[in-house]
Amino acid sequence: MTEKIIVTSALPYANGPIHFGHIVGAYLPADIFVRYQRMRGEDVHFVCGTDEHGVAITLKAEQAGQSYPDYVDHWHREIGRILDSIGIEFDLFSGTAAHHNPFHAELAQGFFLDLMRNGYLEQRTEEQFYSATLGRFLPDRYVEGTCYKCNSPNARGDECPSCGSWLDAKQLIDPRSTLDGSTPVLRETRHWYLKLDQIRDEWLAEWFTAKTAEWKVNVRHFVASALDDLRARPITRDLPWGVPLPGEFAEAGKVLYVWFEAPIGYLSISKQYWNGQGQPERFEQLWKDPATKLYHFLGKDNITFHAVVFPAMLWGTKAGWVVPTNVPANEFFNLEGKKFNTSKGWYIPESSISGRFPVDGLRYALATMMPETADSDWSWREFQARINDDLADNLGNFVARTLRFAERFLDGAIPDLGPLLPQDRELLDAGAAAAEEIGAHLASFSFRKACARLMAFGNTCNKYYDTEQPWATRKTDPARCGQTLRVCAEAIRTLAILARPILPDTSGKILEALGVTAPPTWADAGGVGLPAGPLRAEPLPVLFPKVADQLVAEELAKLEKMAAEPTEGAPAVASPATEAGAAGDAAQEPIAPEIGFDQFTAVDLRAGTIVAAARHPKADRLLVLQVDLGFEQRTIVAGVAQSYDPATLTGTRVVAVVNLAPRSLRGVESQGMLLATDGPDGKPRFVAPGEGAPNGTRVR
Ligand code: 2FM
Ligand code: ZN
Repeated sequence: MTEKIIVTSALPYANGPIHFGHIVGAYLPADIFVRYQRMRGEDVHFVCGTDEHGVAITLKAEQAGQSYPDYVDHWHREIGRILDSIGIEFDLFSGTAAHHNPFHAELAQGFFLDLMRNGYLEQRTEEQFYSATLGRFLPDRYVEGTCYKCNSPNARGDECPSCGSWLDAKQLIDPRSTLDGSTPVLRETRHWYLKLDQIRDEWLAEWFTAKTAEWKVNVRHFVASALDDLRARPITRDLPWGVPLPGEFAEAGKVLYVWFEAPIGYLSISKQYWNGQGQPERFEQLWKDPATKLYHFLGKDNITFHAVVFPAMLWGTKAGWVVPTNVPANEFFNLEGKKFNTSKGWYIPESSISGRFPVDGLRYALATMMPETADSDWSWREFQARINDDLADNLGNFVARTLRFAERFLDGAIPDLGPLLPQDRELLDAGAAAAEEIGAHLASFSFRKACARLMAFGNTCNKYYDTEQPWATRKTDPARCGQTLRVCAEAIRTLAILARPILPDTSGKILEALGVTAPPTWADAGGVGLPAGPLRAEPLPVLFPKVADQLVAEELAKLEKMAAEPTEGAPAVASPATEAGAAGDAAQEPIAPEIGFDQFTAVDLRAGTIVAAARHPKADRLLVLQVDLGFEQRTIVAGVAQSYDPATLTGTRVVAVVNLAPRSLRGVESQGMLLATDGPDGKPRFVAPGEGAPNGTRVR
């Protein structure tokens, strides 16, 4: 019977690019699993999107002087592009912000109300850091200070990046606001807590014992220790951006905690998809059928929320939502033995990969390196070995030698199958055995083993070719030669099917060369399956060009150089906004990639004068300025409220970019941008035109 399967990949924060660590942790394994289950004929639904609320985002958007929706849009597009470039195919890649997903807030609020009705929420009044200068609460990362556990000086209000502990912001030593460096004060606020300990006692502990025996050991350990130390957790925050509390519980400036609503994104994105398909009923048919299998793919840092908190929420609503069947979390992925670290130059620039290797080659190599049971590494030498030894010399070689032989000596025509010799049958049976074992590996999230087993079958195929020597039988026994080629073609068909979840493009190309047009199912692998009668097989261009030693040496040297001079070669996919935390340290600002003179003159800069200034009605950091440009007056919104009192700005000379597309900043349209440099305090100051330049003069 067809199984209903929902697969999710962790929703990446819309505040920076995703790198190989994320890809091998949450996206590639899910995509391979989904492709496999679909080939088995299961009813599979695969959703993802960006996680678009929370302090990690509001803080960076504010630092970048961008509106929240504009900021998350940028990263939503960028992350979508990266996932696309590696062939990850979701049913829908959406997001959690209202402008991306009209169903999210309502579903998240429904969870809140259901949990409330069932007695799993309670309100507590507590003290929390508050900025007297800015008149706002400072949740989570809005406060930094010295860690009270390890004494590291840059602990954040929610956690310490040095020792990894979850922190209580109020206990930080020397706390300061990340917005303006001021010392925060304590002020009372009210928050809703999810009574996780109560849910554990009523259901979670029993469920964990009964239903997770097959989970990965690393995940089970994590969950077991989290269950021991489970307390009620606050699920609301004082923030200007997020999902408001529903109905009578709504309070100005209070939203649901991002970790409470983000996983509900899996449901809301699914709902959005089925509505878009014109089959809205399918959403609940999937998510409320107790027989549905639900799988969450993610990295180890997300285990607690998916394997403890989210199941507790799903169950606690008593609304009939399914709970996770498995949470196949991966460990961490490093680069040549050290943690990926973009700001320290320890990363792989997109230019080192993009367009240089077939996407399938990268997918395969990453699958062989997945941190399934322990941390693992990207190594350029390993990458080279996987492409050259596995894909080129094994799989690619078998396909190429068979098809080339057929073209050269049989005019591309492979004869119909004749009587099978034992060795022919053996190879065809080996295909069926490989299908069974690879399938079992894929179903149990052992992607590395699946790759190894695929290559073992490739070896068997090459050995058959070597032993049967079609180049010799061509002269001595042409019928045997034809039969050998036919058996090889059948084995190639099986290889293409078994490789398909990992190497979808390559699989398509091979099957096409064999004249197979219908998408294959997993059950088609093994034995005989090509259309009867003589076959026309088209030779293929080289599927996997070899990776040269020189390329590996160059990449290793590049990496060492970037690490030695981390200011060079900022990632092509990271916008300046992601580095905003480092702003203010002029010496560290990387030099942007070289541009031509034309690109410089494309930016139209003009001298101007501020003629009026006011605070932005909705954003503390922004001022709304009227700028006289000689030929016209424009409204320009600038993130300089911390540097200037609007009352003092009239008459200030400025340089404006006048041909920038207008954009809305928190609801006010900005028709340009003003140039500024950071002062010694890290706050922006306007750049002035040369003395006496009339308004409207071009700056060159
Ligand atoms: O760690 C992260 O990037 C989180 N944004 C993952 C959220 S997964 C789910 F809960 F949405
Ligand atoms: Zn610490």
